[in-house]
Amino acid sequence: MKASFILILPLLLPLSSAQIPHWGTCPEPPLQANFILSKFLGTWYEVAKLPAQFEKGRCIETNFSMKADGTIKVSSSEILKGRLKTLEGTGVVEDIKQPAKLGISFSYVAPYSPYWIISTDYDKSAVIYSCTDILQIFHFDFAWILGRTRTLPADTINKAREIFTNSNIDVTKMIASRQLGCDKEF
Ligand SMILES: *[C@@H]1O[C@H](CO)[C@@H](O)[C@H](O)[C@H]1NC(C)=O
Repeated sequence: MKASFILILPLLLPLSSAQIPHWGTCPEPPLQANFILSKFLGTWYEVAKLPAQFEKGRCIETNFSMKADGTIKVSSSEILKGRLKTLEGTGVVEDIKQPAKLGISFSYVAPYSPYWIISTDYDKSAVIYSCTDILQIFHFDFAWILGRTRTLPADTINKAREIFTNSNIDVTKMIASRQLGCDKEF
C-alpha cells in the first residue's frame, strides 16, 4: 500500500497547480452494465474533458485494440505546437467481474490509472471517469466525453454531463476539446 502511494504522489503533484483536489474519497459512479470491451475498441475522439494538465494539444484521439497477450493497446495522438505527437500505453481489465473498469498506463514505471467507462452506446459516445484517492483524504479526478466523431450533438454532451452530475462528479469546469482543422495539414 505505502509503496504505491510513493509511486503515485510524484506523478500527481505536478498536476496540483491546475487540478483542484476534492475532499473525501473518490465517488463510486455506477458503470456501464454488461460492458463489452470488443465493441468499445477502435477510434475515439476527445470531445470534452475536465482540464488535464498533461493534455494541452488539440485533435486528441485514442485508438484501442487488443494485443496478442490479452492486454489492450492504447494509442493516443494530439497536435501540439503544430506537430503530431503520439503516445502508446497499455490497458488492462483488472477484475473480470468489473469489465467497465480499465486501468491504463502510459509508461512501464507508472502504475495503472483508473479508466472507468460510466456509459457508452459503443457507436456514438462514451462517458469516461478516472479518479485517484490520496491517503483517503482527498482525490483527483479526470473526466472525458468521447465520440466516434470529432464533435457530438449538444444534447448528447448535455446528457453525458448529467450522467456525471448524477454521480456527484463535479463537471462545472469541463471544457470542449479542440477538434477543429484536424484533418488538414497542420
Ligand atoms: C487510429 O486509427 C486510425 C485508423 O486506422 C488511424 O488513421 C489513426 O492514425 C490512428 N490513431 C492513432 C493515435 O493511433
